[in-house]
Amino acid sequence: MVGRKVGIIGAGAVGATAAYSLAMMGTCRDVILYDIVPEVAIGKAIDIAQAAIYSPRGTIVSAAETPADLKDCDIIVITAGVPRKGDMTRADLLMINAKIVKDVVENVKIYSPEAIIICVSNPLDVMTYVVHQLTGWDRNRVIGMAGALDGARMIYQIQKKVGFGSGRTRALVIGDHGQNMIPYPEISAAGGVPLTQLLNQEDMEEIKEKTKDGGAEIVKYLNTSGYYAPGRAIAVMVEAIIDDSRIVMPSSVLLDGEYGYKDVTVGVPIVLGAKGVEQIIELELDDEMKAKFDISVKSIEENINILRNEGFFD
Ligand code: APR
Repeated sequence: MVGRKVGIIGAGAVGATAAYSLAMMGTCRDVILYDIVPEVAIGKAIDIAQAAIYSPRGTIVSAAETPADLKDCDIIVITAGVPRKGDMTRADLLMINAKIVKDVVENVKIYSPEAIIICVSNPLDVMTYVVHQLTGWDRNRVIGMAGALDGARMIYQIQKKVGFGSGRTRALVIGDHGQNMIPYPEISAAGGVPLTQLLNQEDMEEIKEKTKDGGAEIVKYLNTSGYYAPGRAIAVMVEAIIDDSRIVMPSSVLLDGEYGYKDVTVGVPIVLGAKGVEQIIELELDDEMKAKFDISVKSIEENINILRNEGFFD
């Protein structure tokens, strides 16, 4: 049985929204926010704690002022990172965020050694790999949050297109959480009705493109990335672990032979429960999907290799 103490590292837009969502649902006993800028964690924790007064089940929301205050958490969510700015290349960003995740993980190992980690920092699949390498924990305890968000973005597009199915539409996105993600409308359904019976190929292609573009579309309007949907997606994963509900949720996990790959983290459907990754589900992919999955895995491996060549893991 998983306890109900959740630590969130990085109290920025995504981390704080996840805390708010959890506090509204009342699933956790404690939600603790930590940020490298303590004022951010303290201020947001006070605000969210005051919002939680009116939620149906109480949650204690507080701030950790030092990494040591984030002690014995059952689940740790990592959203710490910096966004890409100005003349930063992707490789620059990769190294900066990898170093942040390294700092964070060192403390998690000391203060919450039994936790399940949900990694959210980008580039997601690579940062999840970094967490694996630096913790050395069993792979069921390190999970990247990607498919929960990308799936929600895809369901949004499906519902807009078909005009019905609210709350009962299911969709799957596998692969990396980036340019090569693979929305899979061919096996998605609205209230159990296969999408292939509701939409033509052109509509399917449009849904795929719009799903891939889901994050960028929000940036276009807000000049910053979304946080409500990422925050809620994190909370749904935390709830599944605490409730041991064993939902099927595509997530970035370390493969060890599944889908023909080893030593790489990529989004595939998993069963999410009290142990974290309870099971990895191996979909039968046709040749076209296999080729797409291969491109996706290669793009993650390329980035892992950038870190490896820089001596990051030595
Ligand atoms: N330890 C703890 N917190 C840190 C550290 C660190 N070493 N370094 C940075 N932070 C904090 C920042 O102070 C900031 O408050 O991480 C927070 C990040 O928040 P935002 O900049 O608001 O970013 P956000 O939109 O929340 O995204 C967070 O999730 O989806 C991903 O790409 C996104 O990697 C990004 C992460």
